[in-house]
Amino acid sequence: MSTGILKGKKGIIFGALNNMSIAWKVAEKAHAEGAEFVLTNAPIALRMGEINELAKKTNSQVIPADATSEEDLKNLIEKSQEILGGKLDFILHSIGMSPNVRKGKTYTDTNYDWYHKTMDISAISLHKTLSAAYNMDAMKDWGSVVALTYIAAQRVFPDYNDMADAKALLESITRNFGYQFGIKNKVRVNTISQSPTMTTAGSGVKGFTEFVSFAEEMSPLGNASAEACANYTVSLFSDLTQYVTMQNLFHDGGFSFTGVSLDVINRYVK
Ligand code: NAI
Repeated sequence: MSTGILKGKKGIIFGALNNMSIAWKVAEKAHAEGAEFVLTNAPIALRMGEINELAKKTNSQVIPADATSEEDLKNLIEKSQEILGGKLDFILHSIGMSPNVRKGKTYTDTNYDWYHKTMDISAISLHKTLSAAYNMDAMKDWGSVVALTYIAAQRVFPDYNDMADAKALLESITRNFGYQFGIKNKVRVNTISQSPTMTTAGSGVKGFTEFVSFAEEMSPLGNASAEACANYTVSLFSDLTQYVTMQNLFHDGGFSFTGVSLDVINRYVK
């Protein structure tokens, strides 16, 4: 059901790799709700070409940008404003990658060059994006920036590896830049802490399938899907959430506040 909640809103959506990506679902939902946007991803991800299908479907253009490159980000923000015909109402940061996770390095035997890369791609890229938008005065008053995060920023999930540190930094950047952007022109910055979701990035984490089942049993509402995450994201881009900023918002069916569920405890009944 669409209500046109984003009618007239313009933005940039990072991170739609394929039709499982959370960003892909956000783009579909934002389009259905009347938004116009530019899609972007790292040049290497664009080579797979799947994003063109989404661009066609949502009537949007694609601009390549490596989110670790300040130059690419400036170009993206400049071109997006040209294409969309004005300043931006929203930005979705849906980016995550850890070379240590990808290449099977453990947390206690990390490769520090890769650790830096994890931080740069998965967290500092948000700072760079916000900084480019802030310094180029590219956001409209009462605009909204959302980044995706995971509860491993607060609690230990051993196989999440250095991504846990990256998410903690991402959430800190959200608070600190949220303050600055709020003062400048009422722009809000929040993270959504999403349930484990079967996507390319998610399934790269060791033991992910088992973990999805565990989270499902631990969450009173069950795991939140990528589509549900898109709905929540769209609400944060809308004018109905104008005073929500600098928050980490759990979107996880209640997982974050459940100590133990009956489903899990019943496994131990003898
Ligand atoms: P995905 O693999 O579809 O999306 C990750 C995106 O990051 C890809 O589009 C990839 O091309 C992009 N990316 C990687 N390096 C980049 C760079 N240098 N510049 C620009 N883009 C780059 O996976 P998913 O799950 O949709 O991930 C989106 C976000 O959601 C990530 O921040 C992830 O950590 C977060 N998240 C995912 C959960 C899950 O279980 N799938 C749970 C909680 C948060």
